Amino acid sequence: MRKPIIAGNWKMFKTVSEAESFFSEVKGKAEVEGVESVICAPFTALPALVQAAKGTSIAIGAQNLHFEDSGAYTGEVSGIMLKELGVKYVIIGHSERRAYFAETDEIVNKKVHAAFRHGLTPIVCVGEKLEEREAGQTKDVCKTQTVAAFQGLSAEQAAEVVIAYEPIWAIGTGKSSTAADAQDVIGYIRGIVASLYGETTASAVRIQYGGSVKPNNVAEYMREADIDGALVGGASLEPASYIALVEGA
Ligand code: G3P
Repeated sequence: MRKPIIAGNWKMFKTVSEAESFFSEVKGKAEVEGVESVICAPFTALPALVQAAKGTSIAIGAQNLHFEDSGAYTGEVSGIMLKELGVKYVIIGHSERRAYFAETDEIVNKKVHAAFRHGLTPIVCVGEKLEEREAGQTKDVCKTQTVAAFQGLSAEQAAEVVIAYEPIWAIGTGKSSTAADAQDVIGYIRGIVASLYGETTASAVRIQYGGSVKPNNVAEYMREADIDGALVGGASLEPASYIALVEGA
């Protein structure tokens, strides 16, 4: 059985003190037996959050890493650095990074390998733009992105990957995909993993839906056979809302 995983993606929100105060409010509450709870925060807040999360069941994640382990890459942060901090997860290939920071499928794949080199679990984002959806290309786009992200991974590594299907038109817009549509695409993505690694690996991979998930719709997604959780932006920023998301899962 796959363990449901709710991950908050704070994006570029919260200072260190705001992160600490958030954590003190969710501690002991956004912790539900049988559900994995992950907070993906800006780099600056990670040390404080990792400290605060000690002894809790809440895992801390980063939102990016560089694909090299060290070097002359001004402004970048490597997997080694994140691992030493005690970070467990790292979001890779979020559509905002693909759109604003020119991350290609090849870069995403290199970052997935960098995560595994340092014992970090990647949350790999895939998803189509509105015009791609309207042109009937949703599944093709997800297939291309998924195949590229998994390139060169062993079956053991593949089974550890968390995939987040985030249709770009649903991010921060309040226009969420219906649970049935999300299930259709996510079931298809699981089939892609099966075609690459076989059914056993595919049935171990956790696949989240992301895009305007709120406390009042999270349960609908969780009822679908292939949806194992949610990657949540806006609704993960308020303690009460984050707690409700974890409870709703
Ligand atoms: O990574 C989560 C995300 O892009 C969805 O954002 O604000 O629609 O939940 P939001």
